[in-house]
Amino acid sequence: MASAQNTTPPLDAESTAALAATGLEYALVDIEGDRFPAFLSSVARGFLGEEPTKEQVENSREGLRGRRLIGVYDRAGDQPDAPVATVDSWVSELTVSPGRTIPLWSISAVTVAPTHRRRGIATAMLTGELRAAAAAGYALAGLTVTEATIYGRWGFSPAAWASDVTVDTRRVRWTGPVAPGRLDFVPRESLTARLAAVHERIRVQRPGAVPGWDGRWRGIAGLTPEAPDAKKVRAVAYTDTAGVERGVLVYTIAEREQYTEHELQIRALFADGDEALAALWRFALEHDLVGKVTAELQPAVPPVQWMVSDRRAVTATLTDHHWLRILDVPGALASRAYSGPLDLVIGVEDGLGIADGAWRVRIGADGEASVERTDGEPEVWMPVGSLSSLLLGGVRATELAIAGLVRGAGDDLAAIDAAFAPAATPLLDIWY
Ligand SMILES: CC(C)(COP(=O)(O)OP(=O)(O)OC[C@H]1O[C@@H](n2cnc3c(N)ncnc32)[C@H](O)[C@@H]1OP(=O)(O)O)[C@@H](O)C(=O)NCCC(=O)NCCS
Repeated sequence: MASAQNTTPPLDAESTAALAATGLEYALVDIEGDRFPAFLSSVARGFLGEEPTKEQVENSREGLRGRRLIGVYDRAGDQPDAPVATVDSWVSELTVSPGRTIPLWSISAVTVAPTHRRRGIATAMLTGELRAAAAAGYALAGLTVTEATIYGRWGFSPAAWASDVTVDTRRVRWTGPVAPGRLDFVPRESLTARLAAVHERIRVQRPGAVPGWDGRWRGIAGLTPEAPDAKKVRAVAYTDTAGVERGVLVYTIAEREQYTEHELQIRALFADGDEALAALWRFALEHDLVGKVTAELQPAVPPVQWMVSDRRAVTATLTDHHWLRILDVPGALASRAYSGPLDLVIGVEDGLGIADGAWRVRIGADGEASVERTDGEPEVWMPVGSLSSLLLGGVRATELAIAGLVRGAGDDLAAIDAAFAPAATPLLDIWY
């Protein structure tokens, strides 16, 4: 596993200079300081949200503590202390193989004021994040995106996918396993701890996953000041026959005109094991007075399809969800376990010059990789985004080659496919 110590690298000099050349100041924002409320207000505006109240500011301050916040300031403007652009980053941990993780430079809250758009501010902020993280020794950066058109230019590319699932419950009968444990309603106030406990066990086994944080769990539980449907949030926990809590389902019910056809909207369904998964899905699908169940961020092929009488009553819409960006090729590739041997020189193209070059990738019979820079001629070529997409094995090299995103001989691509095949399909089950 790669190690990285510096969680607050200094501001990138190149981005500082690029912004200064257009009259803008690139500055760290102290989360405890006076600049934080205006920072949060700019983030809310960027994501089309309401102006945060004092209570929300304090709640966010609590939730974001430990993060590296950056604002871009236009001192000539009407509100010189309100940033015209924002970004927020922190060190998280990405599961790369079951039981194996790597530090992840996580990026969020990327906004540019509509008054300052398309002047290269996002470019300065994102490239600044990548150079700062690479210089501090991080092998990977990641983010979740609201639009798929923006981040590819900086080398980010999807590495884990998730689907939005809808089940027409009037068409299905439960045919899945019958879990022997018990279900209990649990209070909302207990959910922060419960979600954290079960998710922490799940996420280290699932490639593509990252840990959650209290603010994320409070949001799901409806415990944040801005939660509009807080009072509708209900939750059940599954306990196995040994008395261990193995899963939590958090949901709301949206009323429909027909009283027997309400919609059960899953806010989180975290199951540590198959029993809990079956018990919680069955609870949702058999809920009285419900005609439809919806859930976001589910596996691409949702397991519930195999547990009901009519699989076509389950629809799943797939989206790219976790975007990764390799910064250090040896560090990233050597972090995971592989499914087969490989000895290949891969040429990586990186417009930012961070990861480019020819890399000899050797994977032994034990599934461990060693990677070093080489003068040898690459046998396979790809942009850094393609290697980032391949990292967790969620897409095959032969599939990317069809789109021209990987170039090489068929045998070499097949060898990459076999070696990179994942032990579990990558999934990221939260937003960050
Ligand atoms: C998306 C956003 C951050 C872009 O900021 P910006 O400062 O205007 O971006 P830049 O001027 O640096 O543009 C960089 C490039 O991205 C392109 N781009 C920017 N926003 C884009 C969008 N929404 N769709 C497609 N391309 C976009 C630009 O055209 C430019 O292309 P080029 O490099 O080929 O010239 C900004 O529009 C914004 O804050 N949007 C609302 C919040 C949001 O969507 N944030 C992203 C959350 S994941």
